[in-house]
Amino acid sequence: MTVLVTGGAGYIGSHMVHALADAGESVVVIDNLSTGFSNFLPDGVPLFIGDAGDENLVEDVISRHRVESIIHFAGSVVVPDSMRDPLGYYRNNTMTTRSLLNAAVRCGVNRFIFSSTAAVYGNPDQVPVPVYACWVAPRAALARLQASPPSVPGFPSL
Ligand SMILES: NC(=O)c1ccc[n+]([C@@H]2O[C@H](COP(=O)([O-])OP(=O)(O)OC[C@H]3O[C@@H](n4cnc5c(N)ncnc54)[C@H](O)[C@@H]3O)[C@@H](O)[C@H]2O)c1
Repeated sequence: MTVLVTGGAGYIGSHMVHALADAGESVVVIDNLSTGFSNFLPDGVPLFIGDAGDENLVEDVISRHRVESIIHFAGSVVVPDSMRDPLGYYRNNTMTTRSLLNAAVRCGVNRFIFSSTAAVYGNPDQVPVPVYACWVAPRAALARLQASPPSVPGFPSL
């Protein structure tokens, strides 16, 4: 069984790749190296330099390496940048994930781990954050978006 790690050359993803390789798992990485580094990867782990939202690339890697599970770390993570360029972040996080999922579904890969971020919880009322916040937080984020849409350069309002 091969595990595809997207964003595997990044900070968190490369630790995952090392842990999988150390455990004797077969691993393959897709990373566009926008913020990652190929030398973060252990020797012998194949790296495909490209976009995790490129469905042709993803499907090719899945079939060539007989991928059975995907761990998804590829994305943009700098919060102030996301405020300056919300549409760019929407594209690289939401749309990339949507395309990756589409390719996974088409190839019959149904084991998928998404590395989210604690930032979705905002400033929690309670710490540790209770389990119900896992579904409340995304709904709250959506409500916040509707109440106060992001300002996008070039658009007076959105
Ligand atoms: N850093 C943390 O403390 C932390 C904690 C928990 C979860 N996470 C989550 O882990 C994930 C990775 O975070 P990170 O801190 O390792 O960031 P990072 O920037 O170091 O890693 C992201 C990796 O994804 C690659 N990448 C970005 N967009 C891509 C795309 N479209 N196609 C292919 N590769 C792409 C980058 O080149 C980079 O190697 C994020 O989803 C983040 O929310 C991070």
